[in-house]
Amino acid sequence: EAGALWGGRFAGGPAPELTELSRSTHFDWQLAQYDIEGSRAHARALARAGYLGDDELAGMLGALDTLADAVEGGEFRPLATDEDVHSALERGLIDIAGAELGGKLRAGRSRNDQIATLIRMLLRDHAASIRRLLVDLIDATASQAEAHPDAILPGRTHLQHAQPVLLAHQLLAHCWPLVRDLERLRDWDRRADASPYGSGALAGNTLGLDAELVAHDLGFAHGVENSIDGTASRDVVAEFAYITAQIGIDLSRFAEEIIIWNTKEFGFVTLSDSYSTGSSIMPQKKNPDIAELARGKSGRLIGNLTGLLATLKGLPLAYNRDLQEDKEPVFDSITTLEVLLPAFTGMVATLHFHTDRMAELAPQGFSLATDIAEWLVKQHVTFRDAHEITGAVVKFAEDHGLELDELSDEQFAQISPHLTPEVRTVLTIEGSVASRDGSGGTAGVRVREQLAALTARVRVL
Ligand code: ARG
Repeated sequence: EAGALWGGRFAGGPAPELTELSRSTHFDWQLAQYDIEGSRAHARALARAGYLGDDELAGMLGALDTLADAVEGGEFRPLATDEDVHSALERGLIDIAGAELGGKLRAGRSRNDQIATLIRMLLRDHAASIRRLLVDLIDATASQAEAHPDAILPGRTHLQHAQPVLLAHQLLAHCWPLVRDLERLRDWDRRADASPYGSGALAGNTLGLDAELVAHDLGFAHGVENSIDGTASRDVVAEFAYITAQIGIDLSRFAEEIIIWNTKEFGFVTLSDSYSTGSSIMPQKKNPDIAELARGKSGRLIGNLTGLLATLKGLPLAYNRDLQEDKEPVFDSITTLEVLLPAFTGMVATLHFHTDRMAELAPQGFSLATDIAEWLVKQHVTFRDAHEITGAVVKFAEDHGLELDELSDEQFAQISPHLTPEVRTVLTIEGSVASRDGSGGTAGVRVREQLAALTARVRVL
């Protein structure tokens, strides 16, 4: 069997159905360059331990470079008979270096410790690129906040008008979860920063290979503490899948807001033509497809995580072939985010906000009722009574088809003697927003501080 890494103890070749099922090159080929990098480090460890002479090491490294170029240029590809990326690359190495030298590289390593190392290398690289893409989205969103320092919109709970807030405050509320996702990726990397290379199949190697040196060569801080854990665990992969799913969820919630804001009924935003789509039958349509795809793809990211967790549950130690199923879900999550994030960022960066429409709606729905209640508290009315009195004001306004600031002084006084004409000072949207100046509040001063804090926090990530 061409390229098979096993077969010595087998009477015949594998059944074609087995080959078909077993083959993983259609997805693990993504690991080819990492595999070669691992091989370079392993060759150096073999040389240091006395299993390769200086010339042999030079020959091996030269052959690996040639192989890397051939992979890069697409001249070397896996064959249908190659079981996985490791088998294909060994075949390629032997083609270049000959069986005598090429056949020495496999000593002291197993595909089990290789694959566990390579997946970490790939995930660490993509964690870095996803972090850059997240920073771009945070920057675009924060820039929109900065560009609209005074715009006010109706803040909502239960999707009902609740209290007016600054648009900038609302936009920054979508940034902070993304900042925590950045931090999650950074924290995750500390756990991913250990190399399983040297664990062998499960029990370690007998050849005196220096796993720490291999780890450093491959950009890891150190090797793993336990060779069984090193080859059998995939919690690092699952945690990565969780973070990508969380990013998906955070994008989805932001997307949902944009979809609602973009409806005729809200009319808070217009999407740029370049970041929206049309309908094949309705010529008037302009649809928020990027936001909808973000919302939809979050389901897929969650599915990739749950599928992987289900694969891992109940697996006995150490390596089992089930573990091969870790790759496709997490590779898919990476591609999904790396395609989605730039589109989402473009959509946010080019959003046009209709601040007049937001301002028009902000006072509606009795959104200043809390301001009346808190004004009463400042007049030393208990909050219990203040809530009751304000409730009566809202009921009166509702019954008479009035907004809160449309009640006359007499009508206020009739409802409660505490409601003197001074209550009107809090019945403006601007006054309401500016008065919420406690830490983390929506007052302009606080939001400006928040923006600076956000920028500083992202800069150190
Ligand atoms: N392709 C396998 C994986 O992705 C690694 C090979 C280990 N195979 C084996 N029979 N031990 O996990």
